[in-house]
Amino acid sequence: MDNREKPSVGLAIETSCDETGVAIFDSSKGILANLVSSQVKLHAPFGGVVPELSAREHVKNINPLLEEALRQANIDWKDLDYVAVTVAPGLILSLVVGVAAAKAIAHAYKKPLVPVHHLEGHIYSAFLEKVEKNPKEEEPIKYPFLALIISGGHTELYYVKGFSQYQTVGQTLDDSVGEAFDKVARMLGFPYPGGPHIDRLAQKGKASIKFPTPRVKGEYNFSFSGLKTSVLNFIRKNPSYPKEDIAASFQKKVAEILAEKTFKALRDLKLNRLVVVGGVAANSEIRKVFKEKAQQMGVELYIPSLKYATDNAAMIAYAGFLRWKRKGFAPLDINASPNYPLEKFGKDWS
Ligand code: KG4
Ligand code: ZN
Repeated sequence: MDNREKPSVGLAIETSCDETGVAIFDSSKGILANLVSSQVKLHAPFGGVVPELSAREHVKNINPLLEEALRQANIDWKDLDYVAVTVAPGLILSLVVGVAAAKAIAHAYKKPLVPVHHLEGHIYSAFLEKVEKNPKEEEPIKYPFLALIISGGHTELYYVKGFSQYQTVGQTLDDSVGEAFDKVARMLGFPYPGGPHIDRLAQKGKASIKFPTPRVKGEYNFSFSGLKTSVLNFIRKNPSYPKEDIAASFQKKVAEILAEKTFKALRDLKLNRLVVVGGVAANSEIRKVFKEKAQQMGVELYIPSLKYATDNAAMIAYAGFLRWKRKGFAPLDINASPNYPLEKFGKDWS
């Protein structure tokens, strides 16, 4: 009997940036363990992630997290059906730690190794809650849909036709939206990562400043570097302006830009399903604006809960499950790649 027909248990490792993540997904029960060891404090004094420090921290954390995940899920290595791992994109030194650990487990316990693209993990994070509410419904995803990925490293729109079928619709031409949040937060005196600080501060402020909408080449492309400069110029000219109003005005403008392009793409591509994912999808104003617009336009919207929006391994475990079911195993000489476009990855591994 093909063991892909039975309920399965998969382990996932995510080390693409500064969070060490280990998760276990049971296809009949949902996520059994989801551990994230954050390095925020380690990198904060440097104002950003220091690649070498990040890799060293992953090496230190990975084994204790693996042991703890198995303990929480109450399973043994031999119970695993597959080992999924983020192979791209990200900081190469960090990715390599997770890939090496996953290969060691796959080799020692003779388990299939399933490669997952970090952005694919983010996309499928949107469905994790639905899966958890009804674990028996293995693939509660209707295609096609549009995916907006907004994170520290990416701001991209994809047309998702089916599993592993990703077509780029738009992308940022300069800064990612997460970078813009982090840089504006820094201007206002907050440590890295600044997004959550802006979000909290903005809740106490008024969006009283009208920052200009950037002109961008390409209907569905984004640009945030001009907006960041407008905020910087405003702060220089108005040093005593209330910070909470600057944060609220910036955040509102970002939500407006993202929503305008995304809903235009939905209309033009005649899609009525939307997924909004990535660390910045944790932002309260963005969540609010997208929920309102989706309701107005009759669009089915999927946004992950906060714990699945920022980097985690649960999303890698679920995307890994979807690939494992389709026999998407990798040979043990697969490498980690710092740059690997999602569209190409999807084609190579479909
Ligand atoms: O997806 P993620 O955890 O890591 C990457 O793959 O990049 O995203 C991290 C980004 C950071 O720029 C962080 O400031 C931002 O997500 N972020 C937020 C919020 N929470 C995290 N930005 C705005 N509002 C938030 N609540
Ligand atoms: Zn991410």
